[in-house]
Amino acid sequence: MRVVVLPTSAEVGEAAAAEIAAVVTERPDAVLGLATGDSPLGAYAALGRRVERDGLDLSRARGFALDEYVGLDPSDPQSYNAVIDRTVTTPLRMRAGAVRVPAGAAADLDAAADAYERAIEESGVDIQILGIGANGHIGFNEPGSAFTTRTRVVALSERTRLDNARFFATPSDVPTHALTQGLATIMRARRIVLVALGERKAEAVRAAVEGRPSAACPASVLQDHPDALLVVDEAAASRIAVSSSAVNRFPRLLARR
Ligand code: F6R
Repeated sequence: MRVVVLPTSAEVGEAAAAEIAAVVTERPDAVLGLATGDSPLGAYAALGRRVERDGLDLSRARGFALDEYVGLDPSDPQSYNAVIDRTVTTPLRMRAGAVRVPAGAAADLDAAADAYERAIEESGVDIQILGIGANGHIGFNEPGSAFTTRTRVVALSERTRLDNARFFATPSDVPTHALTQGLATIMRARRIVLVALGERKAEAVRAAVEGRPSAACPASVLQDHPDALLVVDEAAASRIAVSSSAVNRFPRLLARR
C-alpha cells in the first residue's frame, strides 16, 4: 500500500483521475470499479475535463459499481444506479448501460448478489476507485466484515446511515440494507485507488495504513494488495505518523504521469 498526501482536495481529484486515465489510455476497453459518495466526485469531474478537453475516450470502457441500497428503485434519484448515471456514465460519455450496478430492488437479493459476483469474476476489474467510511468501511463492508467476504446483502451501521442521511429527506428514509461487493471481491481488482478527504476520515485512514490488518477496520485489508494507492488530503492524513515509510507527502505526482 502506498499513500500519497496532497495539499488540496482538487489535487487529490486530479491525481486519482490521472491514475484512471492512464489505465484507460493503455487499455481502452478497461473495466473500472466505481465508488459513489462524495470522495470520488473530484476525480470523476477531473476525468470529465480530460474527456472534454483532451479527448480521453471512455466509450469502450465498462464498469461495476461497488454497491447499491436495497429497496430503492433504479430510477430513484438517490439510488446508486442513478448516481452512477449522473456522475460517471453520462459526463464521461460512456455507453448507456456500460456500468453495472447491483440489483438492490431484486426480489431475490441473494441470487442478484451471486450473479453480480460471477459477472465481476468473469470480467475482472482493472482499476477500482474507493472512498472510505469514517468507521473504516469500504464498499458497505462495515467493521466486522471478514476479509473473505464476497458480494452479499449487508445491514448498514447506524453511523453509516447517519453519515448518508444528508442525501435523503429524513434520516429514517436511509435504507437499512445494501448489496455490496465483498472485501475479497474488491481485493481481486488489479489496481486500487482509495480517495479520502477531510479530518472526519483521519482516524479511519490511520487505522487503514498503520493498524494491524483486521476486520475492525475493513480498509486495512488493502495493506495486503499488491497495487493499492491511497490518495488523501492533508486533513485526512493528519493522524498518520510523519515517519511512516509508506507515505509520500506532496510528491510531484501530477508531473510524474
Ligand atoms: C460508496 C461506498 C462507500 C463510500 C464511503 C465514503 O459507493 O461504497 O464506501 O465510499 O461511505 O463516502 P463519502 O465519500 O461520501 O464520504
